[in-house]
Amino acid sequence: MKTAITGATGQLGRWAVEKLKQRLGGEQLIALVRSPEKAADLGIEVRPFDYTKPEQLLDGLQGVDHLLLISSNEIGQRAPQHRNIIDAAKQAGVKWIVYTSLLHADTTPLSLADEHVETEEMLRDSGIPHTILRNGWYFENYTVSIPAALENGALVGSAGQGKISSATREDYAEAAAVVLTTEGHVGKVYELAGDRAHTLDELAAELSRQTKREIPYKNLPEDQYAGILASLGIPEFYAKAIASFDIDASKGALFDQGRELSQLISRETTSLSEAVKTVLDQKQHN
Ligand SMILES: NC(=O)c1ccc[n+]([C@@H]2O[C@H](COP(=O)([O-])OP(=O)(O)OC[C@H]3O[C@@H](n4cnc5c(N)ncnc54)[C@H](OP(=O)(O)O)[C@@H]3O)[C@@H](O)[C@H]2O)c1
Repeated sequence: MKTAITGATGQLGRWAVEKLKQRLGGEQLIALVRSPEKAADLGIEVRPFDYTKPEQLLDGLQGVDHLLLISSNEIGQRAPQHRNIIDAAKQAGVKWIVYTSLLHADTTPLSLADEHVETEEMLRDSGIPHTILRNGWYFENYTVSIPAALENGALVGSAGQGKISSATREDYAEAAAVVLTTEGHVGKVYELAGDRAHTLDELAAELSRQTKREIPYKNLPEDQYAGILASLGIPEFYAKAIASFDIDASKGALFDQGRELSQLISRETTSLSEAVKTVLDQKQHN
């Protein structure tokens, strides 16, 4: 029984390979990647798999039984890319697809949701047995800003007092590995999010506590926050999108209290304090 992982050289994909190796060993796993040279350290079979090259997708999926389809990061191109993958999976006889979607994809105001909803529809129309993992926000989306916050003496954003149910990529990857290696998940849609929601004020307070410095959270108007992100070198389109996600978060779009993630992984999701500590420890070692 072969299980393949798309985006295996990405940040979530690497964790998924790790978690699946722990549960299945490496023999049964295949990394499907755009850049095989980046995958040498994964320690499993690697096949070239560029979502824009349908023939490569069909070759890559030969003999694959179960597929973890990690959504592409090419916003705006994802629906046609995912269609290519699902078409190839159908042709290759893949028996089960587990897809990483977005928390409350069918009702969320997040502009990101459209491509996920479209992909979920494609999966339903394909007739291939599938499971949808609607992943909430990664802690890392925010903790990546910790070095800048320490440098500037403040954490900035536009999420107001919005409560965000973050979990780490490791938590979400573990859930994917559990689903792929246990029974009873076909046809299910999981809303996955952290157990304890936090505001960005609380993130700044935790950062202040652990660093013994005063790092306040400064809530900014959307345009101003987008401008700061753009000034840090983030392309304007993404900077505006990130700021708009914060506005959605301020209205509760990233909040969830269903605890389906911790139920799947049989442990509490990573806490805010652990997520902050991980980044500070890494910073110390670099
Ligand atoms: N829940 C959240 O908070 C959140 C945040 C950000 C993104 N996401 C979504 O979750 C996904 C996984 O997150 P992540 O952090 O692992 O993202 P990531 O590190 O950016 O990884 C994305 C992966 O997609 C691969 N990819 C992109 N275009 C491709 C193509 N044309 N053909 C083949 N592979 C392609 C990349 O390949 P290369 O390694 O060759 O570049 C990379 O491995 C993202 O792609 C995005 O859809 C979720």
